[in-house]
Amino acid sequence: MHTIVLATQKGGSGKSTLAIGLALAARQAGFTVRLIETDPQGTLSSWQRRRSDKDPVVEPIYHAANIEPRLKMLAESGLQLAIVDTAAGLSAATTAAIRHSDLCLIPARPSVADIEATLSTLSVARAWKRPYGFVLNQTPIRGQRIDNAADALAEEAALDLTEVLARPLIVMRNDHQDSLAAGLAVSEFAPSGKSAEEIRGLWRWIATRLDLSATTNLLIDQVISAADGILHVAAERASDETTLAS
Ligand SMILES: Nc1ncnc2c1ncn2[C@@H]1O[C@H](COP(=O)(O)OP(=O)(O)OP(=O)(O)O)[C@@H](O)[C@H]1O
Ligand SMILES: [Mg+2]
Repeated sequence: MHTIVLATQKGGSGKSTLAIGLALAARQAGFTVRLIETDPQGTLSSWQRRRSDKDPVVEPIYHAANIEPRLKMLAESGLQLAIVDTAAGLSAATTAAIRHSDLCLIPARPSVADIEATLSTLSVARAWKRPYGFVLNQTPIRGQRIDNAADALAEEAALDLTEVLARPLIVMRNDHQDSLAAGLAVSEFAPSGKSAEEIRGLWRWIATRLDLSATTNLLIDQVISAADGILHVAAERASDETTLAS
């Protein structure tokens, strides 16, 4: 199982929106997914109540001590992906989730306050040696502001951005707000819209970072079971021929 955590100190940067968007993008790419809610504000639980499809399940875990054992149990149950949404700030639950993650995604709007607020989360991810990436969210379609934000992030992380700035950037669009209000993810609400396309692109960036390929695994499984079938038929034929010959 892979665990992705969305965390940053700044409120309203898009942690919950991206968690939901990515959960459905990953499900559509063939993964089994669970959303873990560590934020008592309950954005994901409220979203699930507005939804008729019960998948992905939203599981609240508000106590830091429960996070690791529950992730272990989910991994043992065969779940492929857990996406953890955290509260703004840096609670014990958020730190525990980052510590047990395979990738810590730090969303930031292209503003100085948001970018400065990434630093504490970044320090935790680095302290626990967890891979991390920034997601620039609610960006204008294009412009100088984005370049400035990208430069500021590069400075914050003191790193080459190509490694840590997730692509594509996620533009500010009503589809994100309308889909959540309807109990849907953006790829369900407007599947052929630009926002859905960006979220699917973001999922592909993450999958590459995690070196994941559910589709490939699925294909391998199918090939193996087809090969099993052929071998079985061949074995039956061989046995029929032996019976006829004798
Ligand atoms: N790309 C986007 N385009 C338009 N609106 C967005 C986008 N991303 C998030 N929003 C909106 O911004 C607001 C804050 O988003 P969200 O609740 O996901 O942030 P958060 O980081 O989870 O906040 P909190 O820290 O309070 O948990 C919501 O109203 C959401 O619909
Ligand atoms: Mg939230």
